[in-house]
Order: sequence, then C-alpha cells, then structure tokens
Amino acid sequence: MAFELVCPSHVPVSRVAPEARVALAPLAIRDEALGDAESREALLDDAFGPARFLKTCQRLRDGSAPAPGLALVATDCVGGLIGTLRLWPVLAGGRAALLLGPLAVAAQARSLGVGGALIRESLARAADLGHRAVLLVGDAPYYARFGFERRFAERLTMPGPVERARFLGLELVDGALSGVQGRVIPAAAHRIDMPQAA
Ligand SMILES: CC(C)(COP(=O)(O)OP(=O)(O)OC[C@H]1O[C@@H](n2cnc3c(N)ncnc32)[C@H](O)[C@@H]1OP(=O)(O)O)[C@@H](O)C(=O)NCCC(=O)NCCS
Repeated sequence: MAFELVCPSHVPVSRVAPEARVALAPLAIRDEALGDAESREALLDDAFGPARFLKTCQRLRDGSAPAPGLALVATDCVGGLIGTLRLWPVLAGGRAALLLGPLAVAAQARSLGVGGALIRESLARAADLGHRAVLLVGDAPYYARFGFERRFAERLTMPGPVERARFLGLELVDGALSGVQGRVIPAAAHRIDMPQAA
C-alpha cells in the first residue's frame, strides 16, 4: 500500500490488538476528490487484482461516471485513503437504479467497520438524493446485514455472466423493485464521452 494506517500514538493499526483498533482509528467519510484517483486505484488493485477489469459489473461502469454525490472515500486519522465505494446509475428492466461497487477497504483497516460505514453513508445519501433502488454483485453474507436480498434481482439479467446467488438488490423506496424484470444497462444520461484511441 502507498500508506500505512498510523494513528496519533504513531502505532500502526496492524500491530494493535483488534479489540483496541476502533479507538485508534478515527474514520472520516467524504466525497472522492480528483486527487484520490491514484490511491483509489491502488487500493482496488490490492483488493481485487487485475481481474477486476473483467467483471461483468465493469461493463456497466465502462465509459460512465459515478452517480453525482455517490463516489465516497474513507480516510484514516492522518488522511490516508483506507476505503473506496462508488455507485453508478443504471436502468434495471427500464427502472432507474444504482449499481453499488466496487467496495474495498485497505487490508490493514478491515473489520473496523469502515466498509459498513461506507455502505450506510452511501445508502443514506442515495435515499436523500431520491434514488429508489440499489443493485450489486457481491457476497450475500456480507451485504445481507445492510438489507440486500436476492429476491429483488432474481428476474433481472446482467450484461454478462454473474453468480445468481451474488446478484442482490435493495429497495430504498418500498416497491421500487417490485415485479421488475429485464436487463440491467448503463443509464445513458450519465454516460461520459471517452477520448477515442488515436
Ligand atoms: C468486504 C470488505 C469491503 C469489508 O470491509 P470491512 O471494513 O472489513 O467491513 P466491516 O468492518 O464493515 O465488517 C466486517 C465484518 O464483515 C465480515 N465480512 C467481511 N467480508 C465478508 C464477506 N465477504 N462475507 C461475509 N462476511 C464478511 C467480517 O468477517 C466482519 O465480521 P464481524 O463484524 O462479525 O467481525 C473488505 O473485506 C474488503 O475490501 N475485501 C476485499 C474486497 C471485497 O471483497 N469487496 C467486496 C466485494 S464488492
């Protein structure tokens, strides 16, 4: 990693007993800034490796921008980037929704609640911004605690292979995914023009 989680005591969190880490690791969540891109990409490389660019979800992110106000980072007590989460506008069976991910937390900062804080903050912001539903492909045992359920996505298809058991949805507004079926595609209104290769 390009940084080490060091707290006011100057003790790296990785060398502190897990039960003491929360007190040593003040967490801030803020909007991602342009200057965060390099640290964010390093964190995602560490978490997922190069295969991350081959994931079906990436097909929905290519050439798109995150939903406004929904690209978040978590920072440690010295401002180092320890978590990243972005949500993307999609259409799911013709209905506006968000695609959550990728979510990654620096290895030395895991199990401190950083991932959960990022998810809860993003869902609260999404609801405030008027979004109605969120989809993701991820580990159900982790995401179930935030309310994601398989049943909301079971009649949706992605633009490539996904493990059905990992394709989950959450309603921010009751009924937002009721009866939804069809393909998940990028929300064209938010797509950005990519420079063409020479
Ligand atoms: C998954 C991840 C984001 C969780 O971040 P985190 O900051 O450690 O999460 P939290 O501190 O909020 O929650 C930790 C809890 O989640 C559990 N957990 C973590 N990953 C899990 C998974 N894949 N499945 C089930 N539970 C999981 C931990 O065991 C821990 O449980 P506990 O509270 O009972 O001890 C982080 O482990 C990570 O970056 N992993 C690599 C990338 C990844 O898999 N991203 C998610 C897929 S998009």
